[in-house]
Amino acid sequence: MDFQELIRIRRSIRAYRPTAVPDDVLQRVLDAGRVAPTACNLQPFQLVVVSDPEMRAKFKAVFCRDWFWQAPVIIAGCVEPANAWERSDGFNAAELDIAIVMDHIILAATEEGLGTCWVCAFDEPKAKEVLGVPAGVRIVAMTPLGYPAAEPGPFMRKALRELVRKNHW
Ligand SMILES: Cc1cc2nc3c(=O)[nH]c(=O)nc-3n(C[C@H](O)[C@H](O)[C@H](O)COP(=O)(O)O)c2cc1C
Repeated sequence: MDFQELIRIRRSIRAYRPTAVPDDVLQRVLDAGRVAPTACNLQPFQLVVVSDPEMRAKFKAVFCRDWFWQAPVIIAGCVEPANAWERSDGFNAAELDIAIVMDHIILAATEEGLGTCWVCAFDEPKAKEVLGVPAGVRIVAMTPLGYPAAEPGPFMRKALRELVRKNHW
C-alpha cells in the first residue's frame, strides 16, 4: 500500500472484532512508534499495551464507550514532560512527541489491516490509577487496536484552499 493510499484508508474505527492481534503484528506496529522522531531525539515516552481482559474491563471507568475496552488491545501513549525537550520560552515538546509516536503506530496498524481510533476524551487521573502510571508522567492519547467490525463514518474534510495560505497569513 503506498503512503497516499494508507493515510486515506486510516479512519476512526468504533467497533472491533474480539479476534486477538498476533504478536508479530503487534510488534511491528509498536516498532513503528519506536522509530518516530522526537525533539532532540530524547524519546521521553512509554507505551502501555493492555490486552489482559480484566485490565481492559477496568477501562470502562476510563472512557465510557464499550468499543474502547472491548477491542483486544488498548495502547496508552505516555510521556514524561520533565524528560522532553523544552524551548527557551518554556514550550515543552512532550505532547508533540507522543502524538507523532501514536500517529506512526496508528498508520502502521492501518497497513496491517487493523482498526484504531485516537482517544483523548478519557479520564486521565482514572487511567493513571488503573495503569499505575507514576506522577510526572502524562497519558496523552490512547487507541484501541483490533480488527474492525464496522465501517468508518462519512469522510469529511475542509478543502485544501480553506487550510493553506500562501507566503503570508
Ligand atoms: C487528538 C485527537 C483526539 C481524539 N479524541 C477522540 C475521542 O476522545 N473519542 C473519539 O471517539 N474520537 C476521537 N478522535 C477521533 C476524531 O473524532 C476523528 O479522527 C475525526 O473525526 C476524523 O475522522 P477519521 O479519524 O475517521 O478520519 C480524536 C482524534 C484526534 C486527532
